[in-house]
Amino acid sequence: MAEAEVPEVPAFDVPSRLLGKDGRPAPHVNADKYKSDYPQSIDNTDEFFGKLGKELIDWDVPFKTVRSGGFENGDVAWFNEGRLNAAYNCVDRWAHKYPDRVAIIYEADEPGQAQEITYSQLLVQVSQAANMLKSLGVRKGDTVIVYLPMIPEAVVSLLACARIGAIHSVVFAGFSADSLRDRTNDCGARVVITTDEGKRGGRNIATKSIVDAALKECDKVEHVVVVKRTGGQVNIDEKRDIWWHEACSRERAYCPPESMSAEDPLFILYTSGSTGKPKGVVHATAGYLFGTALTLRHVFDVHPDKGDRFACMADVGWITGHSYIVYGPLMNGVTTLVFESTPVYPSPSRYWEIVDQHKLTQFYTAPTSIRLLRRLGDEHVKKHDLSSLRVIGSVGEPINPEAWHWYNDNVGRKECAIVDTYWMTESGSIMITPLPGATKTKPGSATFPFWGIKPVLLDPTSGEVLEGNNVEGVLAIAQPWPSVARTIFGDHQRFLDTYMRAYKGYFFTGDGAARDKDGYIWIKGRVDDVINVSGHRLSTAEIESALIQHPGVAETAVVGIPDEVTGQTIAAYVTLKPEFSYDSEEALTKELVIQVRRNIGPFAAPKKIIIVSDLPKTRSGKIMRRLLRKCASHDTDNLGDLSSLADPSVIDHIKEKTNAFDKK
Ligand code: WTA
Repeated sequence: MAEAEVPEVPAFDVPSRLLGKDGRPAPHVNADKYKSDYPQSIDNTDEFFGKLGKELIDWDVPFKTVRSGGFENGDVAWFNEGRLNAAYNCVDRWAHKYPDRVAIIYEADEPGQAQEITYSQLLVQVSQAANMLKSLGVRKGDTVIVYLPMIPEAVVSLLACARIGAIHSVVFAGFSADSLRDRTNDCGARVVITTDEGKRGGRNIATKSIVDAALKECDKVEHVVVVKRTGGQVNIDEKRDIWWHEACSRERAYCPPESMSAEDPLFILYTSGSTGKPKGVVHATAGYLFGTALTLRHVFDVHPDKGDRFACMADVGWITGHSYIVYGPLMNGVTTLVFESTPVYPSPSRYWEIVDQHKLTQFYTAPTSIRLLRRLGDEHVKKHDLSSLRVIGSVGEPINPEAWHWYNDNVGRKECAIVDTYWMTESGSIMITPLPGATKTKPGSATFPFWGIKPVLLDPTSGEVLEGNNVEGVLAIAQPWPSVARTIFGDHQRFLDTYMRAYKGYFFTGDGAARDKDGYIWIKGRVDDVINVSGHRLSTAEIESALIQHPGVAETAVVGIPDEVTGQTIAAYVTLKPEFSYDSEEALTKELVIQVRRNIGPFAAPKKIIIVSDLPKTRSGKIMRRLLRKCASHDTDNLGDLSSLADPSVIDHIKEKTNAFDKK
């Protein structure tokens, strides 16, 4: 393996709260440590990670082989022969040492109702839930669907599954019944965990009735466990449904953890790819826990012994919630926040009230929230004491420099480290990021690779590695890291084709990126048909297959267009079947929006649906999305080469229809 290229990390003024003064801890890493450790992690990988693997994880049986396999054959494995239990590592070891340390702060939808759960209480809750799952017949290797809003039981459910060796598959509670049905069937779950209702932004969400609708077509599901959140009216099927609190209270307060192989799957999480069918990304127990533990500690400079209180504002339904609400923090024995509400409920001060009230030390959110709050005015953030914060982070999409500065100035008060963290569902944990106290940042750049990550930029056509600085290409990773996904559930071939065969011998991220003159990495966004709306990852193909189910739709093409707040929004161009008759375009587009909401979920609803007579196609019939993207965002001065279009006049028609739509 070629030697690591060590990024030239420039000297800089470390932000004042990272200097180890005023009772604040000194950071784990500085520029020199990064410079010496990074090449070790790439060139002496086994030694480097072998040592850390012993430190970060409590093993039932120690591992012998640090890593084996590779991207060529898609057989990556880490910490083989080792045996461990994820829940034991996240809960028991802290409950034994620090029983009264707060594990979870639950900040409910309505302000003023926060609750704290200690590690010893968490151990009891996880044990009882684990025993309850066992009494329902759940065994090691079985899959459990978790369809829960942001309540402590979401964390407890995941750990309860892990405790007995069951594989959890969380479905974001904003997904529709159809999406939930497809995921439940794909992973063959027999148990679903949900709530009577969810509560978000003062509104109730009918989670249980969505589950009821989904399960009409899920023959394998035998039980639904229902957490009582609101006490709202729900249908209870006596044979199938069980109240969480009743079932758990019957169980013993200790459940012995199942000893698992390092490579046993910990969870499946569905994510969007470039085809319509979501992929069940599978993560392995040890490598994933290791990756989340190590990144949490160093990227956020977490010090559990100093009483750090870490807050990630994501939802547990996405990978960010898995890694940085649940596993990363709990693997470090730190306090983690479970936030049920939105950044603007009941007012745009909500985040800052929480930081102040709970004296949070790290705060991690998405650029879309930062942009939204920036737009709503500085006064909401200015009036709060945010001096407990040391590190503020961003994830999910590129952060534009304006939002970065606003975050740094108003939230970090220019005294905190700010980390723009780049990673993805398939990476399990953060890949490219500044490290507090070690990295001089540039607004909008994710900067440098984390330990063990060897990024390369490839020429998209030739696949050749673009050496040196001042280059732009597609981003791939040259060697396996511990938390990389191991497969796609039930479809290893698709896993190989998507990630390992696009550029042979590399892990392909799906993103474009540039390395600037100073060696800093800038993520440019997806180069495939994945779009990112408010940090939600969606595939255009998935939305297209929802639209096409409408009886009137002949063809459709969905594109992402830039948006100031949400990063991207969705525009759909639709052609209709000639025989289809309808009253008005307005009524029809409403129906189509409903179709997408019903099929995927409200967050996937297109902002624009434009009915056209034809789509721009090449002579061989391929839709030219590039042109649609430009038309949708009115960027039509330079449409480039149109010679391959079968019928160039279609572009004027599409421009006209887009203008007409936007004038409405
Ligand atoms: C994008 C979210 C720029 C990227 C953790 C990636 C980012 C996709 C960043 C994964 C960042 C994530 N800068 N782009 N800091 N972080 N992305 O699977 O396009 O929901 O491929 O995981 O989000 O989205 P996913």
